[in-house]
Amino acid sequence: MTVPTIESILHENRLFHPTAEFAQQAQIKSLQDYEQLYERAKANPEAFWAELAEQELHWFQKWDKVLDWQPPFAKWFVDGKINISYNCIDRHLTTWRRNKAALIWEGEPGDSRTLTYAQLHREVCQFANVLKQLGVQKGDVVGIYMPMIPEAAIAMLACARIGAPHTVVFGGFSAEALRDRLNDGQAKLVVTADGGWRKDAIVPLKDQVDKALEDNGAPTVENVLVVQRTQQRVSMEPGRDHWWHDLRQGISSDCPAEPMDSEDMLFILYTSGSTGKPKGVVHTTGGYNLYTHMTTKWIFDLRDTDVYWCTADVGWITGHSYIVYGPLSNGATTLMYEGAPRASNPGCFWDVIEKYGVNIFYTAPTAIRAFIKMGEHHPRSRDLSSLRLLGTVGEPINPEAWMWYYRVIGGERCPIVDTWWQTETGGIMITPLPGAIPTKPGSATRPFPGILADVVDLEGNPVPDNEGGYLVVRYPWPSMMRTVYGDDDRFRRTYWEHIPPRDGQYFYFAGDGARRDEDGYFWVMGRVDDVISVSGHRLGTMEIESALVSHPAVAEAAVVGKPDELRGEEIVAFVTLEGHYTPSEELDKALKQHVVQEIGALARPGQIRFSDALPKTRSGKIMRRLLRSLAAGQDVVGDTSTLEDRSVLDKLREEA
Ligand code: WT7
Repeated sequence: MTVPTIESILHENRLFHPTAEFAQQAQIKSLQDYEQLYERAKANPEAFWAELAEQELHWFQKWDKVLDWQPPFAKWFVDGKINISYNCIDRHLTTWRRNKAALIWEGEPGDSRTLTYAQLHREVCQFANVLKQLGVQKGDVVGIYMPMIPEAAIAMLACARIGAPHTVVFGGFSAEALRDRLNDGQAKLVVTADGGWRKDAIVPLKDQVDKALEDNGAPTVENVLVVQRTQQRVSMEPGRDHWWHDLRQGISSDCPAEPMDSEDMLFILYTSGSTGKPKGVVHTTGGYNLYTHMTTKWIFDLRDTDVYWCTADVGWITGHSYIVYGPLSNGATTLMYEGAPRASNPGCFWDVIEKYGVNIFYTAPTAIRAFIKMGEHHPRSRDLSSLRLLGTVGEPINPEAWMWYYRVIGGERCPIVDTWWQTETGGIMITPLPGAIPTKPGSATRPFPGILADVVDLEGNPVPDNEGGYLVVRYPWPSMMRTVYGDDDRFRRTYWEHIPPRDGQYFYFAGDGARRDEDGYFWVMGRVDDVISVSGHRLGTMEIESALVSHPAVAEAAVVGKPDELRGEEIVAFVTLEGHYTPSEELDKALKQHVVQEIGALARPGQIRFSDALPKTRSGKIMRRLLRSLAAGQDVVGDTSTLEDRSVLDKLREEA
């Protein structure tokens, strides 16, 4: 397992201090400064956040109350009026930043664009006016299914500008998955592109939208706005489909930002859980703006001359918070790259760093592991001396990969911020502040000021140092998710009831196992539920099982993660077949393809294992623990006495 085991990391006690030069110029300059800040925030979180909200953001109208906490429902900056698009763009226009690069974009085939804040303003206003012309009003949900091109960010900011919540669906999801999300969110319009470049091929996004909408598949969608990217031939349905470049002709570039209520919904973003279909995580405006602003500023230690690059896709929360909203709110230059490292161009990331003189680079452990495999000569043959700070996110990073990143990419001079957070938390929760907190390879170190993170048992008792427990947060924070879209009950059940509240104390349950060491450093061990992570993409085993079972050949399916050196985990599906089907190579292929069609290529099982039966308890529950061991090729250890039929296990073992 690339998730570090307790045994391996217990022995990890290397400590890396920022250089004196880095610390002196940093936003937060010493451990003592961090600790003071942390204690101040802890003593009075409301006062802490209110002071920052006042200092750092523009409000059309000030709030009446900082926090209204009716557990588990929080409201921040109650009755404040704010617009995040205004904070990300307009307020910079009256400063010298007006003509600073807001967005640098590099396309996969090598084309590029740079938009200054003034230019971004114009694009966003025009886009917003086109949305309005197509009937989008404040409160209407807009689906965004886009490649990594500037218009993805422009569309998000345009929605925010007019108060239309967006729901971005990652371009790697299938038409079926897109349809589900558009329906759940009741989207009124979809923004897409003719296609996008991905690993030397064109992803036909518009075709997928057509498929999602065919046979009235998403009845709430009235219009589709299509950005031209690849010049693909696409079919345009008259009355429904519109080219962005046509509609923008003659459209006004004046569109004042709508004063939004602090608690108005900014976006819905779907993410997988251990049960049921993906949840629509709801984020609102004021608290999210403040928290992503502050975390970007302090964790990435932004300076006005920096070029900042986060390699995520805008289809994930990392893209929302740390490509678009956090950096732009700070007036930073944010870089967006359409491509992914690929066999034909293994050095492409390093070329981008060299070309633009990137100072801050934020990527995922799975990418780092891929780079290690591609070989040191790629980064070594580029000039990476502009880099000052490195970051990682998405899954635990094994100390070896951390060291490689530190040595080969960071030249042993750049601190690494290993940032733990989730779609649900909106922003980074546990992380080094790079000028202040010495790092240990594999640890996300300590909570951000204002975040009361803890490791507890199922009753909520803190566990002793270096013992495993559940990662929780004990107090609301500004960018926490507000609910599951349309399902308050699921919100309560999923996050607030695993550890029952006591004495008025509520525990936000993250779903991760963790340990805290004697220095108060957090070591995140990975999910404790049936969520698996393939190349940093979060997938619910049950979603994949449902996809498999929807195939006529499949009677039952159980999906588990198998440790994989490169991708973190690989999907292994144990499948039993309906009576008249027999295992075959064709069926193996067909089932994998079926999952791709139902969810997307990111969910393609690495292995299908056909079996006559699945190991179950006497009460009929599939014993995944056993299947996980089997998939990993390990001996099945632990209690198997609840197994209904031992021969099932023996047979599965033989077949392995
Ligand atoms: C899950 C959240 C939020 C950014 C991208 C993923 C895992 C995230 C770390 C880290 C160990 C991490 C956790 C978490 N995770 N960052 N630095 N160290 N694990 O967002 O798809 O909502 O997934 O990713 O398991 O619960 P997400």
